[in-house]
Amino acid sequence: MSPKHVEAMYDVVIVGAGAAGLSAALGLAHSPEFAERRAMGEDPAVLVISKLQPLRSHTGSAEGGIAASLGNVEHDDWHWHYYDTVKGGDWLVDQDAARLLAQEAPATVINLERMGVAFSRTEDGHIAQRRFGGHTADFGQQPVKRAAYAADRIGHQILHSLWQQCVAAGIEFAEEWYVTDLVVDEACAKVEGVVAFDTHTGTVHAVHARNVMLATGGAGRLFHTTSNSWDLTGDGMALSLDAGLQLEDTEFVQFHPTGLAHTGILLSEAARAEGGVLRNAEGEAFMERYAPGHADLAARDVVSRAIRSETDAGRGVPDPRDPLGRKDCVWLDMRGIDAGHMHQVLPQVVETIHKYMNLDPTTDLVPVKPTAHYTMGGIPVTTDGEVYRWADDRRAVIDGLFAAGECSCVSVHGANRLGGNSLLDACLFGTRAGHALAARLADAAPADTTGDDRVDAAAERRRTEVADLLAAAKDADPQSDTQPDDNPYLLMADLGSLMETALAVHCDADSIAAAVAAIEADIAPRAAALHPHNETAAFNQELTAIWEVRHLIALASAMLRTSEARHESRGSLCRSDFPERDDERFLAHSMTDAAGRISWQPVRIEDMPPQARSY
Ligand code: FUM
Repeated sequence: MSPKHVEAMYDVVIVGAGAAGLSAALGLAHSPEFAERRAMGEDPAVLVISKLQPLRSHTGSAEGGIAASLGNVEHDDWHWHYYDTVKGGDWLVDQDAARLLAQEAPATVINLERMGVAFSRTEDGHIAQRRFGGHTADFGQQPVKRAAYAADRIGHQILHSLWQQCVAAGIEFAEEWYVTDLVVDEACAKVEGVVAFDTHTGTVHAVHARNVMLATGGAGRLFHTTSNSWDLTGDGMALSLDAGLQLEDTEFVQFHPTGLAHTGILLSEAARAEGGVLRNAEGEAFMERYAPGHADLAARDVVSRAIRSETDAGRGVPDPRDPLGRKDCVWLDMRGIDAGHMHQVLPQVVETIHKYMNLDPTTDLVPVKPTAHYTMGGIPVTTDGEVYRWADDRRAVIDGLFAAGECSCVSVHGANRLGGNSLLDACLFGTRAGHALAARLADAAPADTTGDDRVDAAAERRRTEVADLLAAAKDADPQSDTQPDDNPYLLMADLGSLMETALAVHCDADSIAAAVAAIEADIAPRAAALHPHNETAAFNQELTAIWEVRHLIALASAMLRTSEARHESRGSLCRSDFPERDDERFLAHSMTDAAGRISWQPVRIEDMPPQARSY
């Protein structure tokens, strides 16, 4: 069934239905402005478009917790959370945004509780909290329990609760629709709508909208080893580039220290919070050497680099399923955790280890290695979720265009995100964007039914492309085709290996240049030549995968370009040819566009001048 206003004019279109998209929809639907419009007999036209059924969004796989200085277990203070976030981000954090994040975190978590999230509980019935990497009391003095959790399935809890609230609020969804184009006016000053492909029918729709919000998640699939699900192909970021907009800080990609060997599936930091320890081949709990004091619960960039140093020094352990027998893992030792407690608070971790490695963490050592987990950069946004371009040393907001969650960059994470701050970012800034959208509803005239030429024209171009791709599938002769076996999945795998060699955990000018050359010579031409192998438009997943891999390639190029331009090491970006942080030249956000231009936006420092690195 088609959404009711499709081909007409929407007040708001939200693209993506994870924590950020659903929070925005609820921020909007629960607003007084929305209620007022309904009371006047007008039904604001709001549509959430999702390439998945919303309950399959990657938010559902978040494990360890959501950060907030509730102080339910140990005394805590939002000022400490603010400090940790800025320090954890290696001072590339916009402090106005981080302050808001820390200040609003407790209310955000309480709001989630009221919406139905079944948090784990303390003995006296409060929301339970656990330690997480980089979260401290007294401005770095000692660890503090700040991550509110639901065993190790917090994302599942949050996603289901937000979804149920959206259903109750009567939000309209277009499920398994893939957005192929973001349409803005010629001056890149105003949004006009999106083009979307209904995968069920194979139909391209022109979706006109006064306001569009992008909440499409990250781009972990750029790397071979990743904790991200298959859908995280950086769509919103690539759509923005394609529309002529910029991305911010694309060079910062977080590698989570404990991806399960071979698959990269996340084993939550909560495993270490509950007592797990990393050990090298000699059995040494090596993190104490790298980060005295915080050890295994130092910030993620620190732990991932330490693992890489151990494996580079020959103290790694083998990935039992690696055909090449490489020793690029270390052990996660959870044997010191009481078995009953482990099953109670880490059921997902236990199940993952058992299912995918046939090991029992109560008795076995578990091989782990860093896994691509989170893109700190993304579509530049204000704290109200408005997308902007950086031009002439100022932020120029694109009227009606919003973004939130991992696809965006409000710059609370800077160069390295702290655990638990991602769900918080998505829920808090998603809700704030929803409120900002609601305020625009009050001003706007009711939805009309007039189309807009640019959206229609973009939709027509996509229809032609789809027809051409399907015709190519029909005409393809496997015998004469130059690359008869090529397909988007193979290409994604090759791109993932390339990017992993180029950028994972550390990089230098040579590794970056090699990847740029390989994209030009091999990956990009293959992407241009792709076509599906089945000529049916409906449920043709290969068609969607072709767009996805093209999105990934656009992002890979941006990421390599900005990694090359930043001649320093900061947070997750570790350049072996520029090992020091350079605040003189690079206390600034990279802003890049599809044409390859890079400009630098100063970091917003308020009350915390950068400090020297300390672990
Ligand atoms: O390790 C984890 O549970 C991940 C949490 C996060 O990325 O915030």
